[in-house]
Amino acid sequence: MTSRIIDGKAIALEVRAEWKLRVDALKARGITPGLAVIIVGEDAASKVYVSNKVKACADMGIHSERISLPANTPEATLLEKITELNAAPHIHGLLVQLPVPKHIDGNKILEAIAPHKDVDGFHQINVGALVSGHSKFPPCTPAGAMKLLEKCGIAIEGKHAVVVGRSNIVGKPMALMLLHKNATVTLCTSKTQNLASHTRNADILVVATGKPHMITGDMIKPGAAVIDVGINRLPDGKLVGDVDFESAKKVAGWITPVPGGVGPMTITMLLANTIQAAERTL
Ligand code: GUN
Repeated sequence: MTSRIIDGKAIALEVRAEWKLRVDALKARGITPGLAVIIVGEDAASKVYVSNKVKACADMGIHSERISLPANTPEATLLEKITELNAAPHIHGLLVQLPVPKHIDGNKILEAIAPHKDVDGFHQINVGALVSGHSKFPPCTPAGAMKLLEKCGIAIEGKHAVVVGRSNIVGKPMALMLLHKNATVTLCTSKTQNLASHTRNADILVVATGKPHMITGDMIKPGAAVIDVGINRLPDGKLVGDVDFESAKKVAGWITPVPGGVGPMTITMLLANTIQAAERTL
């Protein structure tokens, strides 16, 4: 079988064009959506992600502010900045890029962000809302993966979805989102015994482990939809996913490439969450 490659870049452009209409409608009513992104320290990957977020805002006509703080910023200073942005009327969405330096309690930071501006959906109030199926800010990466499935017309209801990886940012919310669409969900971890016996049963396989090439073609059910959330840089500089694309594409029915699969959708959903936060102020 030759799989269909899911073109995340093209789908992201299509979805952004839909959301741009809502930005224009807000502007016609005198509101420009605003996103503030705080970055603490010099993590190279984080800097790239933040630059991409700021650029995506500009392309959409969304106001953005990048607040870059030095790595030795005291936790109290960061909390003060969050308090200030929580109260700023022109800022509708606020996020702190993770990871934060070790001397800062990441959980305390996430809980300090006003839940109605928490466009990452990481505050416990928003996590709870997701669990109960009333999420206002679905976390961006799993929401982007769900959007890819929807846009490709891949049925979820009644299917067996297997998620590999149990992170708060991807694995857990992904499992919940699939469950809310009436999939039968198996959530695996890096410690799952005989992982292949689970993945081979997946109609939809979502992989978010951060381990390059962990899932190979022989671990995939023929015809399955394979969503690879991993982005790993190999020593030779090449970017690869958690799925061995070459062997997997011979078995899967649908597959996302890395780069160009889930990646472009993450920021798209961040823009969507920011626009919705602005709409809720009307
Ligand atoms: N670091 C890696 N992914 C994310 C994300 O989605 N949001 C934030 N704030 N930090 C991240």
